[in-house]
Amino acid sequence: MNLTYYGHSCFGVEVNGKHLLFDPFISQNPLAKNIDNTKIPSDYILISHAHQDHLADVEAIAKRTNAKIISNYEIVSYYEKKGMKGHGMNFGGSWQFDFGKVTYVVAIHSSQFPDGTFGGNPGGFIVESKEGNFYFAGDTALTMDMKLIGVRYKLDFALLPIGNNYTMDYFDAATCAEFIECDKIIGMHYDTFTPIKIDHENAIEEFERNGKELSLMKIGETIAM
Ligand code: NI
Ligand code: MN
Repeated sequence: MNLTYYGHSCFGVEVNGKHLLFDPFISQNPLAKNIDNTKIPSDYILISHAHQDHLADVEAIAKRTNAKIISNYEIVSYYEKKGMKGHGMNFGGSWQFDFGKVTYVVAIHSSQFPDGTFGGNPGGFIVESKEGNFYFAGDTALTMDMKLIGVRYKLDFALLPIGNNYTMDYFDAATCAEFIECDKIIGMHYDTFTPIKIDHENAIEEFERNGKELSLMKIGETIAM
């Protein structure tokens, strides 16, 4: 499995020969100006919720690649009306795709499209595959529900928001890592906007104190997981 960071909460995951793209927000992200989103591959686009900083590039990329959108029912319906294809889900539900199994899980946040359309309930994704299992949390507060993820799944790594203000901060994210029983955390949703700028060293140290590893990937970097 290969993991590529495109900035903010946008990641590409290559798993079982398929390209998954999470929460594409590239063309409007000044920190990602070196990323060419006309080159990003995607067979599936997974969207955690309907805020602009998680779906700004969905239409352009889905139209170019003919990717299938995986999200909650309301977000998928929104894009299906625009002629795109998708697979709608809701909390607790899972579906076996050709790359692996996806479960839509709880996030404590909100979800409204930039045009005011209701974007269903915000969520996160658990992906289970032959090449490994991971959790993409989306935008969320720390919640006791995360303990269920630790009970129910064996995670190899997790992508967690750490930037504070709109989501949990890195202290809560370190507690989340305990709740989900996962030692390898990739940070997301930090530095993009003024209210979510963080001190990288302090964040990494906070995870170390908890016996966990926090990776802050460079935008454009790919790592094998
Ligand atoms: Ni959001
Ligand atoms: Mn966000």
